[in-house]
Amino acid sequence: GGCVVAVDGPSGSGKSTVSRRLAIALGARYLDTGAMYRAVTWAVLRSGVDLADPSAVAKVAGETELGIGTDPEGYGVTADGVPVEVEIRGSEVTGAVSAVAAVPAVRSLLVTRQRDLAAAAGRIVIEGRDIGAVVAPNADLKVFLTASAAARAARRSAENATDVGHTATDLARRDRLDSTRKADPMVPALDAVVLDTTELGIDEVVVRLREMLAE
Ligand code: CDP
Repeated sequence: GGCVVAVDGPSGSGKSTVSRRLAIALGARYLDTGAMYRAVTWAVLRSGVDLADPSAVAKVAGETELGIGTDPEGYGVTADGVPVEVEIRGSEVTGAVSAVAAVPAVRSLLVTRQRDLAAAAGRIVIEGRDIGAVVAPNADLKVFLTASAAARAARRSAENATDVGHTATDLARRDRLDSTRKADPMVPALDAVVLDTTELGIDEVVVRLREMLAE
């Protein structure tokens, strides 16, 4: 039958690596919901509409044909048929994504799509910010990964080969925007297991999650 694991947390908490590894170990599908918000943001930037105009942003989101795979070994992301895997990790998209993700119409569009993808997959690990609370409230396991701000900035700057001070500033800014937005602010689901990964390696986190699933 279906088995849904919801993995939420801020950037640098290890959620992408942990989620992919867990999905592979479980023989499950994997969905990166952040990539969906990033792809819509790429389309919004390309359209040239004002990021501060929610109805214009929502219109572009509604007109963009978003493609995303669910293979944990490698998934493609397209917007209107254009592969955008590289572009969505760039600083332009990263700088704009929180504003786009704060638009309620964008969220409801993507949440619906995420639920459909989960239903089609059956067994799936879904990662994001609002998975346990909004996208999959009936998930079999909900985890909220955290880590100290310093550890998160260090991990992210190592991944992207970017300056750690700069990265720390960007993460702090996005944390603030994501947790104070009016539509679905980023908060752990009440029944999520909160796991601080500051002192834990990826393998240890995956082992703990597998133990929780087996219980
Ligand atoms: O890993 P990182 O924090 O860089 O980002 P991500 O998971 O790719 O998500 C990028 C942005 O998308 C976040 O900062 C949120 O603004 C938004 N997002 C969201 O609002 N809800 C989700 N389920 C996933 C991402």
